[in-house]
Amino acid sequence: MASSLQDGFGRSFRYLRVSVIDACNFRCVYCLPQGYCKDPTQDRPLDQNEFQNLFAGFAALGVVKIRLTGGEPTLRRDLVELVAMAKQTPGIQEVALSTNGYRLSALLPELLAAGLDAVNVSIDSLRPDIFKETTGQDLLERVRGGVEEAIAAGLRVKVNAVLMRGVNDSDLPLFAAFVRDRAVSVRFIELMRTGGNLELFEKHHISAQVIQKTLEADGWYQRARGPTDGPAREYKHADHQGSLGLIAPYAKDFCDSCNRLRISCRGELKLCLFGDGQHSLRAFLQRPDQRDELHLAVQSLLGHKKVSHFLQEGQYGNTQQFASIGG
Ligand code: 5AD
Ligand code: SF4
Repeated sequence: MASSLQDGFGRSFRYLRVSVIDACNFRCVYCLPQGYCKDPTQDRPLDQNEFQNLFAGFAALGVVKIRLTGGEPTLRRDLVELVAMAKQTPGIQEVALSTNGYRLSALLPELLAAGLDAVNVSIDSLRPDIFKETTGQDLLERVRGGVEEAIAAGLRVKVNAVLMRGVNDSDLPLFAAFVRDRAVSVRFIELMRTGGNLELFEKHHISAQVIQKTLEADGWYQRARGPTDGPAREYKHADHQGSLGLIAPYAKDFCDSCNRLRISCRGELKLCLFGDGQHSLRAFLQRPDQRDELHLAVQSLLGHKKVSHFLQEGQYGNTQQFASIGG
């Protein structure tokens, strides 16, 4: 089926990122340095029935890939059921998970049985002390263990590292060595400024271009982009099985390849990670027979999606941190 989800700039959206919970048990310096704090004024997250209607509703609009994110999605007790539900939705070809890796090893057999296809794990540094400093958790070995098991089990695995000057920008050789014999993609994400991390941003932001230059000097070459690729740029090397990638949200043209929509754990549609405002779809997720209403609401909202995030102009929307929407 041709995707019927298109915006006013010719971009089509076949990829839905769904936050299932906004709690997190890590304290990443750029995201939740004080740790997650429950906001008692907020509604409860969507339940399974609401997720079922959400997945089916978006699949009917042409979405073929669903990523479950958080907060930390594995903190949700029914995560495995949600994965199975997404995977069994007619039209959904791929279900992926983004996690901090805390429970990856423990949950892996059940996630595989539920039909999970791919996993993204955050590892900001391959040095245990730096990992602890950036996440507040001394758990590098445990998270790495989960990654190794996921690779061995045949999942498609990506590792994400948020790039910070003076913190992990010297880890590049370690990550390059990591992908030498592992079919894994490590992607460096340029640190994004939020309402909550201005000071850190000023001190540690480093452009992805610096890494790009180093990669190219070291013999890495950019893989040709496919028509459905998202905004990440992937680099390959003759001596390495895996790849290294860059996600550079401040780069010119970054938004041209935007292929995703985001849903918060309370059923709000976010048109852009940085865009102001979110639009609740919850009222249309109560019953399967509300699909037409859901579709009308989504189509009309998509008409408002802007061409770019305008980050270069200093806008960062209303985002205090990304924990509630999963980056
Ligand atoms: N800058 C860049 N990436 C971020 N993430 C969260 N906050 C930021 C930020 N300020 C991403 C990271 C993290 C995931 C949950 O979201 O990849 O691992
Ligand atoms: Fe770290 Fe992700 Fe948790 Fe934020 S939501 S503190 S980035 S693990």
